[in-house]
Amino acid sequence: MESLKIDISQVLEFLLYEDIARYQEEIDAHYKALHNRTGKGNQFLGWMNLPSQTSPDLLREIETTASRLREMAEIFVVVGIGGSYMGAKAVIEALSHHFSSMLSKERRQGPLILFAGQNICADYHADLMDILQDKSYAVAVISKSGTTTEPAIAFRLLKQHLEQRYGKAQARQRIVAITDPSSGALRKMAQQEGYQTFDIPPDVGGRFSVLTPVGLLPIAVAGFDIGRLMAGAKEMEELSYRSTQIQDNPISMYAAVRNALYKRGKCIEILVTYHPRLQYLVEWWKQLFGESEGKDFKAIFPVGVSFTTDLHSLGQLIQEGERNLFETVISVAHTRSALPVPLDEEDLDKLNYLAGKDMQTVNKMAEKGTLLAHVAGGVPNLVIQIPTINEYSLGQLFYFFEKACAISGYILGVNPFDQPGVEAYKNNMFALLGKPGYEKLAAQLQARLQA
Ligand code: PA5
Repeated sequence: MESLKIDISQVLEFLLYEDIARYQEEIDAHYKALHNRTGKGNQFLGWMNLPSQTSPDLLREIETTASRLREMAEIFVVVGIGGSYMGAKAVIEALSHHFSSMLSKERRQGPLILFAGQNICADYHADLMDILQDKSYAVAVISKSGTTTEPAIAFRLLKQHLEQRYGKAQARQRIVAITDPSSGALRKMAQQEGYQTFDIPPDVGGRFSVLTPVGLLPIAVAGFDIGRLMAGAKEMEELSYRSTQIQDNPISMYAAVRNALYKRGKCIEILVTYHPRLQYLVEWWKQLFGESEGKDFKAIFPVGVSFTTDLHSLGQLIQEGERNLFETVISVAHTRSALPVPLDEEDLDKLNYLAGKDMQTVNKMAEKGTLLAHVAGGVPNLVIQIPTINEYSLGQLFYFFEKACAISGYILGVNPFDQPGVEAYKNNMFALLGKPGYEKLAAQLQARLQA
């Protein structure tokens, strides 16, 4: 199986190799701290060995549950926010037919997967409830803490609807809860209501949890091969334990290069794809790096673009705007489909020079041409190459980015495994909504709003 590779040739106009190699010693120390569990946030390192240590029994149990849910439901609703939905969404979008909502369940080979509780928009959830009126459906409610407001509201709506539709006993069969093994309101509710449950290991944080039941159950319900996903991740796990050397280990190289660029004022990283099916992988990556590194008034700001679409919106800025950017391109060698540009005898659009060329070839030339243009315009480009988009390569990418994020966060000097800053908005929202205990803050906020 071909492995993920990293190409740094297009950053070497901006950095000397020694500028990158200088990080080796530090990187070695950070691997040691991770592997010996002595660094910052060391109570949340369970993700590091999920690929090698997840038991076949757990994977079988997930698959058995997934087949039961696939049988009974036309629609499977995944309720969760942040790390409790993004990994599943990334894989399902990456592997599904682009227009899967237009296909029958038979053609799709499984239920349509929809998401809820990843926002608190009334219109979004009203439309979801509308769609569910005449469809059979089942729900996974996913929350590590079991107390997050957004998914809790969505689940309350869905639970009531399921119970009214099917009665309490049958509704119970249609709900699976994925949460902390012992703490939180969701765990308590699941016990009381008798839902089937899966545990989120206490030592795995939300944005690092895609390879736990958080990601694996929805991915299996959608009909994708979770064994291959884990196998791809395992290859990366093994590689990361074999060598820490930047020339042998793409994780080390990526962590070193992005920090070397940050040191030179490149404080925005753009993750680039040329395939719309990778859009949510980019979203997952944004959360992983944003929430892990953005603290202590430091961070490389992670943004994403989908080319060539965004070359017609952000391309100008990337080419000629402020030179504080670098790009990381996820380069895919082969697409699933071959689609040649047809010959047209009249050639009114003057496209016959492309006739017979596959669209992937055209896309590839756009990728190479863009990369050279952006590098010439002063934007360093890193390239991460994968052979094709499938479960195996996605597993590799997940582990690659997770471990690189941990090393990179340590280089930056932050704790990559906490997210204290997320509380600020929550406290204000609770106060403004009149949650008991928040009266003093509510008064302060009201005064600020009226000022
Ligand atoms: O990475 C994280 O920890 C967060 O993004 C969480 O996943 C997110 O806030 C949802 O939390 P929970 O799963 O507790 O509902």
